Amino acid sequence: MTEYVKKLLIFGPPGAGKGTQASRVTQDLGIPHIDTGSMIRENIARKTPLGLEAQSYVEKGELSPSEMVIRMISDRLKWDDAVNGWLLDGFPRSIEQAEALSVMGPDGGEVVERVLFIEVPEELLVQRLTSRRICGSCGAVYNLITLKPSKEGICDKCDGELIQRADDNEESVRNRFRVYRESTAPIADYYEGRGLIVSVDGQGGVEEVNERILAACIKA
Ligand code: AP5
Repeated sequence: MTEYVKKLLIFGPPGAGKGTQASRVTQDLGIPHIDTGSMIRENIARKTPLGLEAQSYVEKGELSPSEMVIRMISDRLKWDDAVNGWLLDGFPRSIEQAEALSVMGPDGGEVVERVLFIEVPEELLVQRLTSRRICGSCGAVYNLITLKPSKEGICDKCDGELIQRADDNEESVRNRFRVYRESTAPIADYYEGRGLIVSVDGQGGVEEVNERILAACIKA
């Protein structure tokens, strides 16, 4: 039987398909999808102290304060459902966060077993992001060009209303790319140095990319 690594990190530029692929691969492997972007958006919607602190950063496409996000992930990794594995999406996003994660193991050591680096050319990413729609109720991700819902504006899974994310306008998208290049892209070298990174071509259909991702999770 094929064996898979189950302590995974999915990494790549905004719009690379991290959320789309993460929701599929976590179902395939039976592990929780821990997505900092969605966790923060949920806090913003519920107007929690964390959400109120993060809101202005998210809307401008800036990173939320690291200390807050590190605490959020450190707590989440202690939940019962995370004992046998997890897939982190959106964390770490800077060397500071990667270093914090590297000591979150029970023995104070590295917890990540493999880093899936999804690569997609930038011109495709802008198109994907400006045509993305998400379900306001369950968070399912659609695309007006490549992944349309069966009924316009309605989620196939829960009949919720499809909305555009507050940070999917052109100005925020441009800023998210800048932040990605300056703060997040350097962590590829960090994980390369630790021998953990596997590159996955993110071009092509969702199912095609899903097959590549699953293959990249097979235990060596
Ligand atoms: P976050 O939600 O993580 O945003 P992001 O990294 O910019 O990533 P996206 O969600 O935009 O893209 P994705 O790669 O998941 O693409 P998707 O699958 O949707 O973070 C948002 C904000 O939260 C940050 O800016 C920051 O403020 C804050 N934050 C989060 N984490 C933080 C942290 N650790 N520290 C500090 N702040 C943090 O796909 C995009 C579109 O393409 C969709 O429409 C999809 O349907 C379509 N698509 C996907 N795959 C394909 C395909 N193969 N073919 C065709 N279309 C496709």
